Parts: sequence; structure tokens; C-alpha cells
Amino acid sequence: MGAPRWARLCLLLLAAVTLWVLLCGHDRDAQASPKPSLLQQESLPLVPGGMSRNAGSHGLSRESSMDRGKPSSEPGKAKSTKEQASSCPQSLTSIVKADPRFGKLFRFHIPVLMWARHFTQETRDRLKERSVPYGWQGLSDTAIASTLHLLNDSANSWLFDKARFPEGCVRCAVVGNGGILNGSRQGKEIDAHDFVFRLNGAVIKGFEDDVGTKTSFYGFTVNTMKNSLIAYREYGFTQIPQSKDLRYIFIPSDIRDYVMLKSAILGSRVQEGYDKGDDPRMYFGPEASAKKFKLLHSDFIHYLTLRFLRSEIINTQYGYLYMPSTGALMLLTALHTCDQVSAYGFITDNYRKFSDHYYERKKKPLVFYANHDMLLEAELWKSLHRAGIMKLYQR
Ligand SMILES: *[C@@H]1O[C@H](CO)[C@@H](O)[C@H](O)[C@H]1NC(C)=O
Ligand SMILES: *[C@@H]1O[C@H](CO)[C@@H](O)[C@H](O)[C@H]1NC(C)=O
Repeated sequence: MGAPRWARLCLLLLAAVTLWVLLCGHDRDAQASPKPSLLQQESLPLVPGGMSRNAGSHGLSRESSMDRGKPSSEPGKAKSTKEQASSCPQSLTSIVKADPRFGKLFRFHIPVLMWARHFTQETRDRLKERSVPYGWQGLSDTAIASTLHLLNDSANSWLFDKARFPEGCVRCAVVGNGGILNGSRQGKEIDAHDFVFRLNGAVIKGFEDDVGTKTSFYGFTVNTMKNSLIAYREYGFTQIPQSKDLRYIFIPSDIRDYVMLKSAILGSRVQEGYDKGDDPRMYFGPEASAKKFKLLHSDFIHYLTLRFLRSEIINTQYGYLYMPSTGALMLLTALHTCDQVSAYGFITDNYRKFSDHYYERKKKPLVFYANHDMLLEAELWKSLHRAGIMKLYQR
């Protein structure tokens, strides 16, 4: 197992360095990510078809074909239902609606999660045209079908049951792993939210005062999850967060994610592929059931990338590598499902003041990888904060 994996890692590091040089050449603040992008890059060479691809193969330049594929598209509809259900002082949807820029970007009716009902011929034909994480190009039909058929519980169609909040305002905190959280003492405030999202190397032990203890959702790709266990072990990240109420959000960035998800639901060892032999219960605990797991919709990731994080990287020779970071996907997921969102540990303008992650003992400069565009993400968080759509923790 070891050799090809390290070979791949080296290749990517090389790509990362090259891109870094490219970006510096453009005189941008090319440095940084206080976020868990660290190990996401490894999965990227597994994109079927690999290196010869260009950005076009993601289908990112074909926005119209994507919109065509969407079921029912009256943006106003879902919004008003959501507004009625919310007793927030001012709900996110109404602020978005009134915003000249974001009012045009958000589409609240888009399905965030993928489940059994989405495995139709129409969806298949559409997704077969795009590579991961935006589609199913080159992936085994059988593997995807068997996974999606298992996601047949209504709990697989929503992140949380809105009926549990009859007049409520659902408040969510999304906790990135940025160094800004070291010494922040935001733990209590974070835990006071209805739902807390965490991702990748989310170290809690020893940092309770700064990051809280509650975890409602943990988001990852199999690649970032397993690499976090390796890379952040020395900081105490020895186990994926587990608890009875915790739900896992799989990001479908590779066939590995579908294959692992299937085994996780069945509570059996992984039968094939890269993670063959893994016992998912080692990661997600003893409870194996469809209810425990969610899968981000490929169309949702496509939509987010097109509308919110359409990086210039897409137009370079590294376009095939690009995807929003795990943190970005979780934050945007919350923004499409909660009534109020606060972001902690995400990149801010003054990221240079802080270490890469909140748990490093010695300050470490932020690491910039080829497959994410952290500066574009930073701009987006800043704009959403300024527009009053979410609260970005800054200091
Ligand atoms: C979901 O699929 C499983 C396995 O095929 C089956 O046992 C179960 O009854 C199905 N549940 C629903 C709600 O259809
Ligand atoms: C985190 O904060 C502590 C206390 O404020 C400080 O001593 C330490 O150097 C900080 N760690 C990093 C990596 O900046």
C-alpha cells in the first residue's frame, strides 16, 4: 500500500509547489490556509482519467446545462417556506433575498444531500458527464447504485428534521481548524448553537475552552479523514469524533467515499478498492445504520463551485485538481440549511498572525495547496459577513 501512496503524495507536493510559484508570480498573498486543506490533495490524482484532464471536464464552464438538470427551479418558493418556519430576528434567507449580490447567487431549493431517490436515469446521465466531486464520470455504476440504495431513509434527505423546531430559528456553528481559535475562548458560545459542524482534524481535547465540545456533524472525504488521523495524531487527533447524536457528512470526492459509506451503513469491512479491509466502525463507532450518515449531493458541490468559489485555478493546467476545501463545503452546507450561521476558525484577512491550526504548539505558517483557493474563500467569508448573512469570527 505504502509505495504508490507516497509516490502520489510527492507528485502532488510538486504540483502544489509549482502552483505556489505561479500564484506568487501574480503578486498575490500566496501563502495560506489556516484550514484543514492539508491532506485533501491526495485524492485528486485518483480523478479518473487523471492528469490529462482540463478544467472543462468538470463541466464548470457549462452552467446552463447544470441548471437545466435541476428539479423545480422557482427560487422564491423554498425561501418563503423557510422564512415562515423561522423565528430568527432576521433569518438568513431574508437577508440573502434582500442582498443585491447574494440574492442572485443562492438557490435554496437545490438538494444539499444525495440519497436513494436521486438514483434515476436522468441524474445518472447528467452526473456521468462530470468527474468527481461534481459527478460520477468513470466511477462504477454498481458501486454507486449499491451505496445510494442504502441511503433510503428520510433522514438521508435532510441534515436535520425541521419539524423539531416548529417555530424555531436553527442556529449553526461551523468550526474550521484555523489557528485563530487558539486562545479564543469561544467554546461556550460555539456549544450554545443548535448544531455544531466540525471537519477533518478537529482536535477537541485540551481545547474545550476555545472550540467547545459539541459535535452534531462531522464532514470529510475518506481521504481527508484518514490523513487527518495520521497528520494530527501528534496533536491528539487519535479518533474521529463519535457520539450517539453525531451524524457524518461524506463528501463524494472519489469512489472511495461511496465504497466506505456503503460499508459504514452495513457495518462490515470494506470489500474492495483503496480502503479494502478497513472496519468503518473503527472510525464511526459501533452504530451502523443509514440514519447515521449523509452524503453531499454532487450537484450541490457543482453549484457551490460555480456560483461561490469559481476559482481562476480552474482555468489553469491544475484545473482538474481544484475543489472547494472541506471547511468551505461544510460552511456553505450550513448556509443552505440553517437559519443562522456563525463561522469559527475560518481564514480571515489577518491569517498571518495565526498558526496553521489552533492546536500546533509552535506557530506554523499556513500551508497553501494546489487544489484549493483559500484566498478566494477568504474573500467569500468576508463578503458574507459584511452582508450580514453569517457571522465570521475575527480577532
Ligand atoms: C432500505 O433498504 C434496506 C436494504 O435494502 C431495506 O432493508 C429497508 O427496508 C429499506 N428501507 C426503506 C425505508 O425503504
Ligand atoms: C496558542 O496560545 C498559547 C497561549 O496564548 C500560546 O502560548 C501559544 O504559543 C499559541 N500557539 C501557537 C501555535 O501560536
